[in-house]
Amino acid sequence: MSEAAWGLHHAVMNIRTAIVGFGFMGQMHARVCQALPGVELVGIVDTFPGVEGRAVELGFKTAVAPSLSVLLETVDVDVVDICLPTDLHSAVIITAARAGKHIFCEKPLALELADAEEALLEVERKGVALQVGQCIRFWPEYQALERFVKSGQGGKLVSLSLQRRASRPAYSRDNWLHEAKRSKGAALDLHIHDTDYILHLLGRPKAVHSVGHQEKGAWSHLFTQYLFDDIAVTAEGGWDLPAQWGFQMAFQAVFENAAVDFDSLSSPTLHLTLGETKREPLPFEKPQLASAGATGGNISDLGGYYNELAYFYEQLRQNRKPEIATGRQALESLRTVLAEIQSATEGRSISL
Ligand SMILES: NC(=O)c1ccc[n+]([C@@H]2O[C@H](COP(=O)([O-])OP(=O)(O)OC[C@H]3O[C@@H](n4cnc5c(N)ncnc54)[C@H](O)[C@@H]3O)[C@@H](O)[C@H]2O)c1
Repeated sequence: MSEAAWGLHHAVMNIRTAIVGFGFMGQMHARVCQALPGVELVGIVDTFPGVEGRAVELGFKTAVAPSLSVLLETVDVDVVDICLPTDLHSAVIITAARAGKHIFCEKPLALELADAEEALLEVERKGVALQVGQCIRFWPEYQALERFVKSGQGGKLVSLSLQRRASRPAYSRDNWLHEAKRSKGAALDLHIHDTDYILHLLGRPKAVHSVGHQEKGAWSHLFTQYLFDDIAVTAEGGWDLPAQWGFQMAFQAVFENAAVDFDSLSSPTLHLTLGETKREPLPFEKPQLASAGATGGNISDLGGYYNELAYFYEQLRQNRKPEIATGRQALESLRTVLAEIQSATEGRSISL
């Protein structure tokens, strides 16, 4: 893709971003935009009545509109960052692509494969960039595991077990997360992070076999075995724990001659046991602060959210399309989780 075709000449100017959906994740992305040099938040789209006040309260003085189309009538935008409930993702990707905007869209790409495919075809037809918020590919501890696997230091990876457990989420606008037809439950909304990481690290499994627990017509806790030729892989994801339980992400990776384990509830979070040595904390890179911004100089709590957006904007600045967490990769993760849901529903393994 030529530079002219991209229409991006941002090496010397700000990239202007509009965030669509200013809830939990939209506000997170807004904080990251503030911390990223050369990125300017120029618009917020949301329908909830208090959105303008909330934006000001958080220190964002930008245009606010009830829809992307309305915003684009008056505001010059380069990037549309979609943080809407999942059932709205594909339609807004299509609107943004047709307007020639580059797109960052939160995960999951869509609820259904057909909607995801339609959105990707429009993105590809218009030649705009798209990255999906599969942030675990950018999460420091998971990146450290990826580096350790590639280093060969512990020998071959022989088994991998991942967990993502949470209390029932109570924060989403109109409680959309608990509507099966809007989120497909924890299976798609939460557990997709680990499925996506498995695909990123190990490629596509031959088959999946899942069991779990359902609430209100959606899988609120899923346990999946991923069938590979030479490595045992399993992942658990659920949000049906009691309200005060909190949130945990964790993994245990066993190698021929080592183990790497991560637990977000521990401090330090990441450990290595190498050969006959003691289990020790494994140092890893945290995001480096690029500008002070409104974060007060501390962005380590933004972790993978900072890393994924820093990567996205750097690709745009270099006139490149993102190659990590692409639309097509996110489609594969969606396809795999839908197979897991089918497996749990039908009580049988599903080949991929
Ligand atoms: N990457 C992650 O770790 C992570 C974490 C949480 C959520 N997410 C994803 O981010 C997306 C948003 O989730 P959230 O937790 O921020 O939800 P949320 O309910 O907190 O925010 C959604 C926002 O969208 C707004 N909205 C709803 N319909 C709208 C419409 N038609 N037009 C304009 N605005 C509208 C709501 O008013 C709300 O402010 C979801 O796809 C979710 O899966 C990702």
